[in-house]
Amino acid sequence: MPLRLGDEAPNFTADTTEGKINFHEWLGNGWGILFSHPKDFTPVCTTELGYMAKIANEFKKRNVKILAVSVDPLDAHKGWINDINETQNCTVNYPLIADPDKKVATLYDMIHPNALDNMTVRSVFVIGPDKKIKLTLTYPASCGRNFDELLRVIDSLQLTANYKVATPVNWREGQDCIITPAVNDEEAKQLFPKGFKTIKPYLRYTPQPNK
Ligand code: BEZ
Repeated sequence: MPLRLGDEAPNFTADTTEGKINFHEWLGNGWGILFSHPKDFTPVCTTELGYMAKIANEFKKRNVKILAVSVDPLDAHKGWINDINETQNCTVNYPLIADPDKKVATLYDMIHPNALDNMTVRSVFVIGPDKKIKLTLTYPASCGRNFDELLRVIDSLQLTANYKVATPVNWREGQDCIITPAVNDEEAKQLFPKGFKTIKPYLRYTPQPNK
């Protein structure tokens, strides 16, 4: 059964480039992002891990811990990280799970044998402080992910966890939000003192409430 939004993120223990972790304990009370890479010493993955290192501070600002997984052993990871740092001009500053027995990859259904044999696809799981899965994303090995988009989604997830709003197409931090349909106009007046604009009864915009 694949993991779905709202499911509890399965716990595991694993060896990583920064020591052994128990996933739930490692997450603590904050947010987390778990993402898979098909294989060490592969070109697209090298660019992804490098870019992630460069924007890691943006995840930290949002209280999101970063955890990568690849189905190779620890010594391969360590050699590959040297290459990533050298070629991408970065310092990989987050743990990479060594998963040669595919324990984590299997637990999170990251191996899609009809797409790719014996390696993971590019999976992403964003996990909330309640350990529930808030976002899943699956890309083929041939396409590097847009990690800036992950920051955008996390901004939306963290906002909508605290306010009765949703975010419209291509929304970015600071832009107007949509009042969720379950909120009637009377309640909206209380909840959104900056006001709101009604385009249709079901389409109401309000300034981002926490700005
Ligand atoms: C890559 O990261 O470049 C890659 C990995 C597995 C299959 C194809 C490409």
